Amino acid sequence: MISINVNGEDRQVDGPEDMPLLWALRDVLGMTGTKFGCGVAQCGACTVHVNGQAVRSCVLPIGTLKDAKVTTVEAVGQSEQGKKIQQAWLDVEVVQCGYCQSGQIMSAAALLQHNPNPSDADIDAAMSGNICRCGTYVRVRQAIKQAATGEKVAMQTIPNDAEAVR
Ligand code: FES
Ligand code: FES
Repeated sequence: MISINVNGEDRQVDGPEDMPLLWALRDVLGMTGTKFGCGVAQCGACTVHVNGQAVRSCVLPIGTLKDAKVTTVEAVGQSEQGKKIQQAWLDVEVVQCGYCQSGQIMSAAALLQHNPNPSDADIDAAMSGNICRCGTYVRVRQAIKQAATGEKVAMQTIPNDAEAVR
């Protein structure tokens, strides 16, 4: 049995030390907000925070987490900053199918914790590992800016710009 601290609670996981955190969250603890995409640290769908850093839970063994604090999307709204991010996501209507969005939100929350007023380049660098098949990148950037500044950002259409829409 391995004890991991998730969203402020010590949880017991009956699994081997090399079980990926994503498996423990979804299959053992029943916390399905964090998504499985690629399983090899390439898509960002499984992003959670460990000690405030955005990490890929699909490749993080639970045996490495004995003194760590894990935060998942289920708890992101418990902080003032997290509430602002959630509201901005709603105001900007970021979500399309939604599959990548918990990972996007966790990466955005880690960015704003470390850099409360990020530039476009800062946002793009921090979010570059979060893939969205629906192409919500421009709205993700808008929502992060709104959460950072507190100002409503005018809605934009997605430009015909290969770099911006990746
Ligand atoms: S599922 Fe972890 S990065 Fe894709
Ligand atoms: S909203 Fe569909 S994959 Fe990102």
